[in-house]
Amino acid sequence: MRMKVGVLGATGAVGQRFIQLLAEHPWFELAALTASERSAGKKYGEIAKWRLDVPLPDKVKDLKVLPTSPEKVDADIVFSALPASIAKDVEPEFAKAGFVVASNASAYRMESDVPLMIPEVNPDHLGLVEVQKKNRHWDGCIITNPNCSVIAMALSLKPLMKFGIKGVHVATMQAVSGAGYEGVSSMAILDNVIPYIAKEEEKMEIEAQKILGEFDGAKVKNADFAVSASCNRVPVIDGHTEAIWASLCDNPSLSEVRDAFAKFKCDEVKGLPTAPEKAIIVHDAEDRPQPRLDRNAGKGMSVSVGRIMEYADGVKYIAMGHNTIRGAAGASILNAELFCKTYKR
Ligand SMILES: NC(=O)c1ccc[n+]([C@@H]2O[C@H](COP(=O)([O-])OP(=O)(O)OC[C@H]3O[C@@H](n4cnc5c(N)ncnc54)[C@H](OP(=O)(O)O)[C@@H]3O)[C@@H](O)[C@H]2O)c1
Repeated sequence: MRMKVGVLGATGAVGQRFIQLLAEHPWFELAALTASERSAGKKYGEIAKWRLDVPLPDKVKDLKVLPTSPEKVDADIVFSALPASIAKDVEPEFAKAGFVVASNASAYRMESDVPLMIPEVNPDHLGLVEVQKKNRHWDGCIITNPNCSVIAMALSLKPLMKFGIKGVHVATMQAVSGAGYEGVSSMAILDNVIPYIAKEEEKMEIEAQKILGEFDGAKVKNADFAVSASCNRVPVIDGHTEAIWASLCDNPSLSEVRDAFAKFKCDEVKGLPTAPEKAIIVHDAEDRPQPRLDRNAGKGMSVSVGRIMEYADGVKYIAMGHNTIRGAAGASILNAELFCKTYKR
């Protein structure tokens, strides 16, 4: 049976990606779109300034945009693409009302009873849903995906965990779509690099340890390494590129590291419609990965790595992922698919 789903914040940069990815989804039927009071009551096709390089799906053009309130939404799962400040109040209202909330927003990511998921990396953390329901007495739940830059980094660090990660340094080159449609003015970003993204370094420095931590059935024990991040906005539309330096306890050869990336797979995501064939694609060409060439790998769900080189007591490499697909909408949809598979919905 197909499940009814809604998108909260459907008019924004991430909201539009949700609509693109859900329009033809084999399990989910797009039944409700919400936005702010500014947009509510209008037809989606009239109000949303569609800015993706794929056509606005016909079946959503005439859907009426609803206010973002649980009583107005008829669905089982809602995908949240709301600003964190709004998500903080709204997401619990939906969870209390029985919805599964698959959220992109940062408001609940670091709460100890909220799973922060990358299905190929920590599928078992979904068990936190039971802890959350018990703690909060909600009929529904909140499941989150990481910040868009953290996803590419944490996914690429997972295969390196077997070598023992001592510490990570990362410098990001982040696309403008990561700031939302109204985020960065063209006069500020064209011909420029901006070495500041509000609250980004803080998220980069704490989220990966939770994702790569161990779940004991009651809580997650964070992975024990520090991350130091420097985050930069660059004039790229989609695709975050990251230079990563990982210090390792063991001393693997470069070919062992390459192999760990290339052979990485996770059986739990088998059969999930949004899971790419390969979560990590390794490039050997010396000038890859690049956002324009590689962001759509695996329909935007694969993270590309390359430039694997020796570094002090570890390895350095470049990782690149599509920030509004793998880093946002696609990530939430994959979380919801894992939820449905696990709980046989
Ligand atoms: N962009 C990325 O790459 C990315 C990646 C990962 C996570 N995220 C996170 O995803 C969320 C959405 O980001 P975005 O880039 O898509 O932002 P955005 O383009 O600014 O879109 C925000 C959406 O939220 C709606 N909204 C704003 N205020 C609202 C309110 N008071 N009540 C109900 N709806 C409201 C807007 O509706 P109106 O059109 O009516 O204003 C719009 O649909 C954020 O939490 C962001 O941090 C973004």
